[in-house]
Amino acid sequence: MTQKSILVARAIFPEVLEMLSQHFQVESNQADDVWPPDVLKQKMQGKVGALTSGSERIDAALLQANPQLQIVANMAVGYNNFDIAAMTSAGVLATNAPDVLTETTADFGFALLMATARRITESEHYLRKGLWTKWSYDMFTGAEVHGSTIGIIGMGRIGQGIAKRAAHGFGMRVIYHNRSRLSADLEAACKATYVAKEELLRTADHVMLVVPYSAESHHTIGAKELSCMKPSATLVNIARGGIVDDAALALALKNKQIAAAGLDVFEGEPALNSALLTVPNVVLTPHIASATIPTRMAMAKLAADNLIEFLTKGKALTPLNQVTGQ
Ligand code: GLV
Repeated sequence: MTQKSILVARAIFPEVLEMLSQHFQVESNQADDVWPPDVLKQKMQGKVGALTSGSERIDAALLQANPQLQIVANMAVGYNNFDIAAMTSAGVLATNAPDVLTETTADFGFALLMATARRITESEHYLRKGLWTKWSYDMFTGAEVHGSTIGIIGMGRIGQGIAKRAAHGFGMRVIYHNRSRLSADLEAACKATYVAKEELLRTADHVMLVVPYSAESHHTIGAKELSCMKPSATLVNIARGGIVDDAALALALKNKQIAAAGLDVFEGEPALNSALLTVPNVVLTPHIASATIPTRMAMAKLAADNLIEFLTKGKALTPLNQVTGQ
């Protein structure tokens, strides 16, 4: 019997390629080339499944050119690279990689908050430039983290992980805003209080964004929202580029309308709004919130297991849509 063919669209752990090769004929991309849409569409020819990284766009044009495709497994919890409606109407299953990255990503959100509030990278750059000649009482004074108020926008699994770290580890007051309110039990576990977005922006010392990207969440934070925040506040975005209006943020940082920001994700990444590179009060990281080897391995294995389970037994582990025959 000829084996089913699948595409692994980006470089991946060799162990995971090996795991997939036990079941499928695999075309891989260990050179890690970033394929433009036309190339991706062409590479999908003859493939019934694909493993994507979260950057490859799966849309109507690709689906139309590849009627044989049955499943695309994202090695990411976010899936804004998928046109889910188009996938569902083409009968293509979409899966993501939730849960396995929750705690690691929450750790990183906290790391970025700490680095931002306490000006860690800004002061390190100063030191590396040889500018540190004496101690002074107000050098690189930052914002308190312990005992302050954190406002979390997007209270899914990662938001809850951050809330627990904040409340239990740092004695912070936790307020949150979400499309729907958490159950009383979850609110108690996170010691979190639900508030309107405006109140959160007005009262939080630190605003943390963990909301999925969609048309509705586009520019959740823009010029208007930034103008509601305290001048001493920090803003951290570990969600997706496009949740923040990066141009408006760069201006607000330049004008000290807010104190500082920490960004792991950017509009149009890996390109950056160049104004962000000119302001010192921002910590910038290249989309690494889930980047530990055990977590990235677990994400890759979950994506691979979704392909294996669906294509060999008809049932995926973490489906995002329902297709006939599933
Ligand atoms: C990373 O950004 C993810 O969505 O997993």
